[in-house]
Amino acid sequence: MLIKRAERFTSNDVTDPALYLSRRELMAGAAAWALLPGASAAALPAPAPLQATRNVGRSLNEPPTKYEHATTYNNFYEFGVDKDDPARLAGSLRPRPWSVRVDGLVQKPKTFDIDELLRLFPLEERVYALRCVEAWSMIIPWIGFPLAALLGRVEPAGSARFVEFTTLLDPEQFPGQRPGFFGSSLDWPYVEGLRLDEALHPLTLVTVGMYGRVLPNQNGAPIRVVVPWKYGFKSAKSIVRIRLVREQPATAWARANPREYGFYSNVNPAVSHPRWSQATERRIGEFRRRTTLPFNGYADQVAALYTGMDLRKHY
Ligand code: MTE
Repeated sequence: MLIKRAERFTSNDVTDPALYLSRRELMAGAAAWALLPGASAAALPAPAPLQATRNVGRSLNEPPTKYEHATTYNNFYEFGVDKDDPARLAGSLRPRPWSVRVDGLVQKPKTFDIDELLRLFPLEERVYALRCVEAWSMIIPWIGFPLAALLGRVEPAGSARFVEFTTLLDPEQFPGQRPGFFGSSLDWPYVEGLRLDEALHPLTLVTVGMYGRVLPNQNGAPIRVVVPWKYGFKSAKSIVRIRLVREQPATAWARANPREYGFYSNVNPAVSHPRWSQATERRIGEFRRRTTLPFNGYADQVAALYTGMDLRKHY
């Protein structure tokens, strides 16, 4: 993505991966590991288990990416732009106490405590494909609940047309937000957005866990969204505010480089990024490239949202 070179951190905050990986798993994963540019053996310990019921109808029947890859090969520019920065540095993020303000054009604006959210909605496990705009992908068993259920609680007003998601702004917890940090050129906080009908689509998931566990800090603890038919950057991490608005939100990547990152950002093999093709992708942990599917394989469920739209123009 659009970056300047990162300053490399040194951190004492590194936990032996043997805490969650057996030696055999480490050896077996070694070949795939070598495929991960920037992947490091360093990671935070695995978080606590989290119960959820598998939603089979909404899950892919594909083997998940290895947990250790999904938690050490990350994009979370608040911790730096290298793939291993989040796993090394995310110990500074404090996911409790945490609250999420849901407001804007709604009848019943409310601030939810994260633990209240966990009690309010039954947790589902859904195995989704994640396709990054950088042309790599993973299969991740997320845990969460439909965003539509949360929005239903606050009762969107008739004038609401878009939903804006804002990540925590706190340079103390996020080194990448500190002045002078020459990692990314994003304006903080990270802001993303969806059209209201996209936000209400049953695939759009508020996510609080993965792999049967609480969401690790580097994956966006304690709460993020996951929108599986769009490039990964639409899925904002560590959210503190969800606001319903009339106008299309000014989102972080579209502000940084509107020619390269559009508001819609539906996975589309037919529309190249200005600097690379989107026709194929590298599934993390595999050698061969795969063909990228329109809407990341979810076309049958979401293509109707875009009837009549020119998706080359609305990239
Ligand atoms: N959210 C915030 N706040 N900051 C980020 O840098 N990166 C995005 C998205 N959400 C990002 C973010 C990108 S580019 C991707 S591909 C996904 O998070 C990666 O999610 P993962 O690290 O859990 O795989």
